[in-house]
Formats: sequence, structure tokens, C-alpha cells
Amino acid sequence: MSEAPPSPASAPAPESDPGREPKLADGQEDVRHPIVVEGLCNAFGDHVIHEDLSLTVNKGEIIGVVGGSGTGKSVLMRSIIGLQVPQAGKITVLGRDITAAQDDDDIDIRSRWGVLFQGGALFSTLTVAENIEVPLKEFYPEIAPALLDEIARFKVMLSGLPENAAAKYPSELSGGMKKRAGLARSLALDPELLFLDEPTAGLDPIGADAFDRLILELKETLGLTVFLITHDLDTLHAICDRVAVLADRKVIAVGTIPELLASDHPWIQEYFNGPRGRAALEAKDTPHHDAAAPAIEDDADDDERAPMAPDEQDR
Ligand SMILES: Nc1ncnc2c1ncn2[C@@H]1O[C@H](COP(=O)(O)OP(=O)(O)OP(=O)(O)O)[C@@H](O)[C@H]1O
Ligand SMILES: [Mg+2]
Repeated sequence: MSEAPPSPASAPAPESDPGREPKLADGQEDVRHPIVVEGLCNAFGDHVIHEDLSLTVNKGEIIGVVGGSGTGKSVLMRSIIGLQVPQAGKITVLGRDITAAQDDDDIDIRSRWGVLFQGGALFSTLTVAENIEVPLKEFYPEIAPALLDEIARFKVMLSGLPENAAAKYPSELSGGMKKRAGLARSLALDPELLFLDEPTAGLDPIGADAFDRLILELKETLGLTVFLITHDLDTLHAICDRVAVLADRKVIAVGTIPELLASDHPWIQEYFNGPRGRAALEAKDTPHHDAAAPAIEDDADDDERAPMAPDEQDR
């Protein structure tokens, strides 16, 4: 498989280019690149997932991460947030070496990112407000209950949920509302970095568009850097500054969609230039769902805007 795009002018930048950036002194935070992954290797037994994978995320961008099902997108995210110990490689997040031995300082770094895991994973026995309070209590155990409550209500509204959703249990929410509740929890600690794993999977097209707009708005108003795993071509077109493509156990290319289209890698061509990719591109250029689209989605688990293969559906 070819990794070299044909046109250097429009080609995606190669991921490891040691000459591109000046070297930082040990412990110095790379403020322009909140996430730097170098030479990552992950394997489960003899099943190799990542081999010499490198990726640099720019501050303030929404970087979309795509790849076939099982290529290791979620494992990459788990590695970056320290939940998956890699076989080799170095991961630096907000200036901290995540792969180095853990110590008490790690608690500080974990409070600087928020995560929406694939599938949401809200605590079913807690209300939405109580779910949001979980990370707050963990990192700031001294906060008074009244203030906790106030912060939780603010995050509920920030994520586009009605105020009365705070007192509801996850089982009382629609799929779209659950996603927003998960997003509210990921914003609990005012993070600098947001990790979203398939946030629009399972939402109806209008709900997915509304969720995309919310992410973009949060990024712009809160100055977030967003690591967004998605299969959703409309999301990639609508809100991502750059897209990183996982294939062949590594990030084979990263760039804007027009830059990626210049790659001759078969997966990239099939994904972005196939019928679904073209439909998403055309949809982007035609007027679509207006700003009056409802902020809150009702139950609707069919994602019609970008038909997914069975193995791509939310699990
Ligand atoms: N804890 C684990 N133990 C063993 N294998 C695992 C573990 N976690 C992930 N894997 C395997 O690693 C591979 C990559 O998984 P991952 O969940 O990262 O895929 P993905 O790219 O996120 O796929 P999808 O698009 O379906 O979510 C899969 O083959 C998966 O079965
Ligand atoms: Mg996944």
C-alpha cells in the first residue's frame, strides 16, 4: 500500500517528521501540541494493534480520527489517556509523559481532559447531575454540595439539555440526551482537552447535526482541543479541522479532507471518494438542516445521514 501522496503541494503531512519542529527541553510543555504520540506500539497477545504509530494534535483543533472497525481507534484514545499501557512508544499530553511511571502529579493531568467513551457509559443508578458530580467529587472533594449542584446544573445547560434533565436517571433519557449527559460529565472539570469516541453514533441525522454544532460551539467558546473518533462523514466535513486516518497499524495520513483526497491509499480513496464520501461532500455544499433544528433529540437510533456498515454501528 502506498503511503506517499502524489502531489506534495496538497499532500497530507507525514506524521513523523523530526525536522519539522524544534526539540523541546525535558519537561518543557509543547503548548502548540497538546498531544504528541511517537512510535506507539500496542498488542494484545500476538494481536498487534499499533506498530510505530505517531500523531501530533494541534492546540485548538478538532482532529477527526477515522479508520475501519477494529483498527485501534479506541485503543489509541485509551493509550493517550493512560488507560492502556503500550508495549513501546512515548505519549506526551499537555507536557506530561503519559507512558512514564505514574505518580501523584497524574491526578492533575487527568483533571485537564474530559472523555466521552464509546457508548456513553453513564452510571445508571445516578441522576444526570450526580453523574456530572462524580469527577468533581473525585478531584475536588472539599466542594460544598450546593456548589456541586450549581456546577452540575450549569454543565447540563452547557450541553444543551433542559434544566429538568439534571434530576433524571439515564433510563429516562433518549439516546441523544444520554450523549449530551455524557458530554456534560466530560465537561465537568473545565477540561482543555476533550476526547469523544463516536459521539454521534446512533443519533438521527438532525440530532447528529445538532450535536456536531454543539461540539463546534464548545470548542470555539471554551477554547478546547478535541480528539474526535468518528465514522460519520458528515461530522468530518462539518466540524473537523484535520482528519487522521488509522490503517495498517498506524496513522497513515493526517490533513484536511481535500489534502487526504490527494492520497492514493486505497482505504482513503474508498472512504472519502466512495459513494458515501461523495454524498457527504455534496451534502456539505448544499443547504441543509437549519439552525432551528431542535437542540434535544427524541429517541431515534437510526443514523440515516451516513449509512453505516453493521460493524460500524454503536456497540
Ligand atoms: N482489552 C482488550 N483485550 C484484547 N483485545 C482488545 C482489547 N481492547 C481492544 N482489543 C482489540 O483491539 C482491536 C482494536 O480495538 P478498538 O476498540 O480500538 O477498535 P476501534 O478502531 O475503536 O473499532 P470500532 O470502530 O469498532 O470502535 C480490536 O481487534 C479489539 O478486539
Ligand atoms: Mg472504537
